[in-house]
Amino acid sequence: MSNPRVLIVGASIAGPTAAYWLAKAGAKVTIIERFPKLRTNGQNVDIRTVGVTVMRRMAGMEATVRSKMIPMEGVSFVNTNGQSYGTLGATGNPDQQSLVSEYEIFRGDLSQILFDMTKDNENITYIFGEQVTSIRQQEKGDGPVTVEFANGLPPSEFDLVVACDGGNSRTRAIGLGCAVRDHITPANCWAAYFSIKQDLLKGTKLGHAYNAPGGRFIGIATDSPGVTRIAAMNFHPPDNPDATLPFREALKQGDDALKKYIANHFKGCGWICDELSKEIMEAQNFYASEIVQVKVPSIYKGRFVLVGDAGYAPGPTGTGTSLAMAGAYVLAGEVGKHKGDLAAALRGYEEQMRPIINDMQKIPRFFLTVLAPQTAWGIWLRNIIFAFITLTRLLAFVQKLSAGAFSSTDKHNLPDYDWVS
Ligand SMILES: Cc1cc2nc3c(=O)[nH]c(=O)nc-3n(C[C@H](O)[C@H](O)[C@H](O)COP(=O)(O)OP(=O)(O)OC[C@H]3O[C@@H](n4cnc5c(N)ncnc54)[C@H](O)[C@@H]3O)c2cc1C
Ligand SMILES: *[C@@H]1O[C@H](CO)[C@@H](O)[C@H](O)[C@H]1NC(C)=O
Repeated sequence: MSNPRVLIVGASIAGPTAAYWLAKAGAKVTIIERFPKLRTNGQNVDIRTVGVTVMRRMAGMEATVRSKMIPMEGVSFVNTNGQSYGTLGATGNPDQQSLVSEYEIFRGDLSQILFDMTKDNENITYIFGEQVTSIRQQEKGDGPVTVEFANGLPPSEFDLVVACDGGNSRTRAIGLGCAVRDHITPANCWAAYFSIKQDLLKGTKLGHAYNAPGGRFIGIATDSPGVTRIAAMNFHPPDNPDATLPFREALKQGDDALKKYIANHFKGCGWICDELSKEIMEAQNFYASEIVQVKVPSIYKGRFVLVGDAGYAPGPTGTGTSLAMAGAYVLAGEVGKHKGDLAAALRGYEEQMRPIINDMQKIPRFFLTVLAPQTAWGIWLRNIIFAFITLTRLLAFVQKLSAGAFSSTDKHNLPDYDWVS
């Protein structure tokens, strides 16, 4: 079985990256996606650290990503009148990233790039509008797996089933035999991403960020001329695990209910909040989700394995994309290395990934204090400190200090796999 039949579930970031590398490792890949076509909405994602390493090993990808990068010069934190307190700049050096990554790209563009790199491969078949309803493993979990589908694909046998369907993975629940919310640690935070047809920033390449009490955060950036991309987030205090319940209820009712909930949530909170609360109802490319961490005792079970957010979503740290790319690469690398021995490959995958996952799931301590102070006083204090460090040019220094958490230099030394030519 040196050409394993692999089913990948989910075609966002983890899925297509896993398809690319698994096909290189000799697999015959079927990749299914619940949505009828590739989802290209979403806001910025970052490619950092291990993600940069994997990108550089994928033929031609770095150049394509560079051509699609968001020309962000930095993020300016503003007060309720839109005046800036301080600006976090990009460092201008791809090997020395700060809070603003040098490889910042719209998630939809990244997903499209990965799809384009895999869609014509004779060993990769994409099927849209499909999902898994059951996964039956052999008694000892060491033989082919029988999978049933919801929308017409006949039941089929695979040697390996790879769940890449995100933090709230239903395939994880089916494969591990648990509930969807098992293994989810809420980060007490949600995010909504959308665009509006107004040029709120008058074409500037500087993103703007704003905080209101209660952990409310808005980030906006110019998209194409006349279009502004918005990220609206709420970081609830960590002591209330049910804080996101109203959001989750609205999520279940669909986009309109969700838009109304978010509009109410931001109404009257200063800066452009009132405009946003109106515009959101007509917003395009609307996508919202709860931000969660996923922690499973083991990232595989028999011939069922998790990659990306489905297995180890890191939550609000913004490293999910890089971690997903690394996981996809390492899984395929181990499959190629242990040709014919999937059990050894999966053990290798877990061993290689565990330290990287543990590291990237750490939420830097300063993170929430900087991004989402809870009280008006907290915001005031943060802004005063910010204004001070910007004025005194301490910022460059602070950025260098924090670059450890955000650097693109890959301290994890992802393994080289011989078969990667
Ligand atoms: C539409 C969208 C927009 C996003 N926007 C942002 C953003 O602006 N900023 C940000 O930081 N992160 C965003 N994310 C999350 C980000 O892509 C991930 O955190 C990270 O890249 C890891 O990706 P992933 O492939 O593991 O999971 P995800 O990106 O969550 O992808 C999961 C994929 O699986 C599909 N899927 C879900 N359930 C099933 C099922 N049962 N069967 C088959 N397929 C299924 C989904 O439609 C999706 O395509 C977004 C995700 C999506 C899906
Ligand atoms: C597809 O798989 C076959 C069999 O493993 C292999 O010979 C061929 O080179 C693969 N094609 C591509 C494009 O990788």
